[in-house]
Amino acid sequence: MSGNRAVAYQGPGVVEVIDTDYPAFELKDGPGVNPANVGRKLPHAVILRTVATNICGSDQHMVRGRTTAPQGLVLGHEITGEVVEAGPDVEFVKVGDIVSVPFNISCGRCRNCKEGKTGICLNVNPDRPGSAYGYVDMGGWVGGQAEYVLVPYADWNVLQFPDREQALEKILDLTMLSDIFPTGFHGAVTAGVGVGSTVYVAGAGPVGLAAALGAQLLGAAVVVVGDLNEDRLAQARSFGCETVNVGAGTIPDQLEQILGIPEVDSAIDAVGFEARSEGHGADAKEAPATVLNSLMGVTAAGGAIGIPGLYVTGDPGAVDDAAKVGALSISLGTGWAKSLSFTTGQCPVMRYNRQLMMAILHDRAPIAKAVNATAIPLTDAPRGYAEFDAGAATKYVLDPNGYLAA
Ligand SMILES: NC(=O)c1ccc[n+]([C@@H]2O[C@H](COP(=O)([O-])OP(=O)(O)OC[C@H]3O[C@@H](n4cnc5c(N)ncnc54)[C@H](O)[C@@H]3O)[C@@H](O)[C@H]2O)c1
Ligand SMILES: [Zn+2]
Ligand SMILES: [Zn+2]
Repeated sequence: MSGNRAVAYQGPGVVEVIDTDYPAFELKDGPGVNPANVGRKLPHAVILRTVATNICGSDQHMVRGRTTAPQGLVLGHEITGEVVEAGPDVEFVKVGDIVSVPFNISCGRCRNCKEGKTGICLNVNPDRPGSAYGYVDMGGWVGGQAEYVLVPYADWNVLQFPDREQALEKILDLTMLSDIFPTGFHGAVTAGVGVGSTVYVAGAGPVGLAAALGAQLLGAAVVVVGDLNEDRLAQARSFGCETVNVGAGTIPDQLEQILGIPEVDSAIDAVGFEARSEGHGADAKEAPATVLNSLMGVTAAGGAIGIPGLYVTGDPGAVDDAAKVGALSISLGTGWAKSLSFTTGQCPVMRYNRQLMMAILHDRAPIAKAVNATAIPLTDAPRGYAEFDAGAATKYVLDPNGYLAA
């Protein structure tokens, strides 16, 4: 094996498909690789030929220039692939397996991994707890929007699909197991959604839609999805959600029209720090704390708020100096007075991916349809990024090796 092709971040608004190295069982120096990770030996890794790899709203934060991501960073943390090589310490994963890779990289050996908190593994990222492929400040693990990608601690990290033919048949659904389906589901679980719940999901991007489907799977009575993007709201209605346009009137008023009362049991932030202010039409300005504050406002006392939406510690394009270091103007008094609970952070994908795989394989969870999954060739990645950034009601799935076209 010699070459590889991958999607790289080249500066604000620019991604390119580049020629790059075929993975080795050692972490080499490169854009964004933490010096303490350079030369790290990876006998526990597998190399995958990528079957499907999705573009995510998390990638867009970097591509919009809203993080400190370095030029040349190979992107991609939503990875499904076929094992083509296994390192000498890999015992159970076999060449030929089709596997889903949780976007969190975790070691399986540290205290947090042992407690199931794989989003904050202590051993893979010298910068801070928690890691991911192809992401700023995540240790420098090379991204998977590529023909080939390396996955460390493979026996621990990967989810093997039980049957190759069945997996390839449902691949547009199964590819969502690497991130957004577990992430949305985690948002619903941590918001306390159960049978008969009323739920408000802020954001009708892929994560919000996955959270809405997750809430339905958990038995919610009513799922209301809010956004400013009418195409995305129509996508939410296509599988039985109610919707509110947050640009057109207040959220409590609109919830009251749907539910009879201006509040919900559970709320989910699937927007994050690039949130637009509410009640100001479609061209509303950025207001990073707006979703957190409006969710505290509409969640019933004693309720819970799941926050998969991303908040950062460094944002060069923030609206003010405080927000540049991640400090937002949050009305915590409201949350305190109502005894609300909050769950933030990376979704620990491994906690949910096997169960959600079973739901997909047995036709209980039409996630690809819910998020309008659409396959495009790797070479079309720049178009996928641009259309997704412009608000397409589409989850773009890259097909670097022709498995999806076949
Ligand atoms: N916690 C995790 O593990 C995890 C995993 C994946 C993604 N994420 C994060 O989840 C968030 C959503 O991801 P995505 O791929 O769906 O992104 P996206 O950018 O496609 O979707 C965000 C949506 O929010 C809408 N929006 C903006 N302001 C709003 C407001 N005030 N109220 C309601 N909607 C508003 C936008 O119009 C957009 O449709 C991102 O911040 C992403 O980084 C977190
Ligand atoms: Zn993602
Ligand atoms: Zn660990």
